Amino acid sequence: MTISEEVMPAAAPETAGSPARSATARRYAMTAPEYFTVEYAINPWMDTSSRVDTALALDQWDTLRRVYADLGHTVELVPPRHGLPDMVYAANGGFLVGDTAVVARFAYPQRAGEADAYAEWMAAAGFRPVRTEHVNEGQGDLLLVGSIVLAGYGFRTDRRAHDEIAAITGLDVTSLELIDPRFYHLDTALAVLDDSTIAYYPQAFSADARKRLTALFSSAIEVSSADAYVLGLNVVSDGRNVVMPAAATGFACQLRRAGFEPIGVDLSELLKGGGSVKCCTLELHP
Ligand code: ARG
Repeated sequence: MTISEEVMPAAAPETAGSPARSATARRYAMTAPEYFTVEYAINPWMDTSSRVDTALALDQWDTLRRVYADLGHTVELVPPRHGLPDMVYAANGGFLVGDTAVVARFAYPQRAGEADAYAEWMAAAGFRPVRTEHVNEGQGDLLLVGSIVLAGYGFRTDRRAHDEIAAITGLDVTSLELIDPRFYHLDTALAVLDDSTIAYYPQAFSADARKRLTALFSSAIEVSSADAYVLGLNVVSDGRNVVMPAAATGFACQLRRAGFEPIGVDLSELLKGGGSVKCCTLELHP
């Protein structure tokens, strides 16, 4: 038997039975890490003694931008502002559906100035910016799956903002409590893969949240601690291609088995601020 004959049958069961996945063109906004530093610590990943290599951060960020462009997606650029080092985490800028842009209201004063910066960009880009009364950290905690919004709370976004978001968007919002400070935003513990498929790290959620997730998503992928602890769930999917932290190799195998196409990228500099692929990407939902 030749090597290829040996390899082929073994590979077949991997994707057998998993649905064919199809990509749809997406629109994203990103903010370059020109002023990115770790000068304060507002999550357990941040260590103010760690030195950021700005040139490397820019390079890694630009690789991510090019991956999206090569997949055929549109990437809009938000101008970064001096003095707002976390602005690179564009996902936190808001939650956009149609022409409505819910502007973030940040939990920490160090990031408060980003709200105006993102609101100005949204208005200039033709969106209708709407503010909430309670703290919401945009797509860090608000993830659209089909026509429902999964909404995290416990560390950043105030649960009361969930009702505001339901009222503003007219979408159903499911509240999920996060319980582990390492997974302080929903997008660090849960990934949306397509309109009905998610992956998540169960240990990051309260018992009630886990119950809600298993009721809603029967075929959810559960990831290991090893993958969760490299922010492996902080991914961006177009329904088929899943752009993800390269270090989450176990999750990449799970994705492949489920018929997705994992594309690993290295954002080691941005991990120093507690963020990765998804954090750097604000999706403009149609
Ligand atoms: N340093 C930022 C913070 O703590 C990281 C934000 C990461 N963004 C995200 N969408 N999870 O707020």
